[in-house]
Amino acid sequence: MNSKRSTVKIMTASPNATDHRVFVGRHPQLTLFRDWLSSPDPPTTVYAVSGIGGIGKSQLLAHLYHIARTSGQNALWMDGRACVRTPQGFLDHLASALILSDMSGSGPDSPMQSLLHAIETGPVLLVIDNFEALSAIAEWWTYGFLGSLPDRGVLAVLAARTFAIPSTTLHSPADKHWVQVPLDPLSQSEAHSLVVRTLPSFPWRIRQQIVTKTGGHPLALTLVTERIHAQQTAMTVDPQPLADPLPNDAPPFYQVLSSHWLRELVDETLQPAVDVLTLIGSADQDILSAGIGQPLTTHQYFSLASLSFIQPGHDGLVLHDLVRTYLFRGYGRTPAGLHAHTSGSLGGRFG
Ligand SMILES: Nc1ncnc2c1ncn2[C@@H]1O[C@H](COP(=O)(O)OP(=O)(O)O)[C@@H](O)[C@H]1O
Ligand SMILES: [Mg+2]
Repeated sequence: MNSKRSTVKIMTASPNATDHRVFVGRHPQLTLFRDWLSSPDPPTTVYAVSGIGGIGKSQLLAHLYHIARTSGQNALWMDGRACVRTPQGFLDHLASALILSDMSGSGPDSPMQSLLHAIETGPVLLVIDNFEALSAIAEWWTYGFLGSLPDRGVLAVLAARTFAIPSTTLHSPADKHWVQVPLDPLSQSEAHSLVVRTLPSFPWRIRQQIVTKTGGHPLALTLVTERIHAQQTAMTVDPQPLADPLPNDAPPFYQVLSSHWLRELVDETLQPAVDVLTLIGSADQDILSAGIGQPLTTHQYFSLASLSFIQPGHDGLVLHDLVRTYLFRGYGRTPAGLHAHTSGSLGGRFG
């Protein structure tokens, strides 16, 4: 797909209430949110929305923000990437968000005072996308900012690929209620309804093929359906037989997704270890060291473990299944081909 032609957006600006694109699924998360909104005196709560890139975190946050705004609730949209990463930078960004939502008041109040006044008038939704960008001030945010909010009336919905802050329901940082909201790919039927809305006239068999090949990953679904939609539009201008809409020869959407995920890999020296995990799926520190042909330090091992698409497992670190599949395709390699490529450095341990 020509990326210039794509309308897929990586959201960084405040979504306005009329920019409401197709939204499917996420019913448990929406129920959680609606339950909070409809409570008469809701406790201040943090929803920590996490998941790999393109899984739909920003889209979910935008949808919640849209629901709150259109039902007349006070709602603020913030983006960790748009903040200077200091407490003052966060408060400056909060001041802008308050102005955009008409919640800044008319006096010389500080942003914190304006926010506290708004909470006195009714529940406030505070959405913060790309929260991982604020990791340098996460402790201040939790204990300094969140800790100074009242015990009732605020719902903070944070999105991050992973959360460094302990956020299980057993722990309650800053004495607030924390709920983990991990996002999975869309179910088959949700993915299907997304495809139907973009490609309503397509045969069921091809729609099903799209759902299966993308594994229900929302960004993958969007990239594929947009590409086909663009092909269809081009055909109405220059009709030709439609090629296989999902050729197997590493179509660009795999590369778009792979590079989207690998952007998280700021330390390039970890790339060989990701290659090894792509080959064998899971590995501990010793096996990774053997795979890359030199010792992997404990610091590097923990850096790998902090990536959203790598999780701790029984035998060490495990690469997310979907990401593994796409990395193979993005690299234009098959498992067998990649195995042959790296088996020398793995020293026959996986013969
Ligand atoms: N629930 C959803 N319904 C419809 N499309 C979705 C949904 N979630 C994600 N998408 C699509 O996938 C793309 C990537 O989602 P996004 O929210 O940006 O992912 P993330 O923030 O997790 O990286 C969006 O631009 C949108 O096109
Ligand atoms: Mg996002």
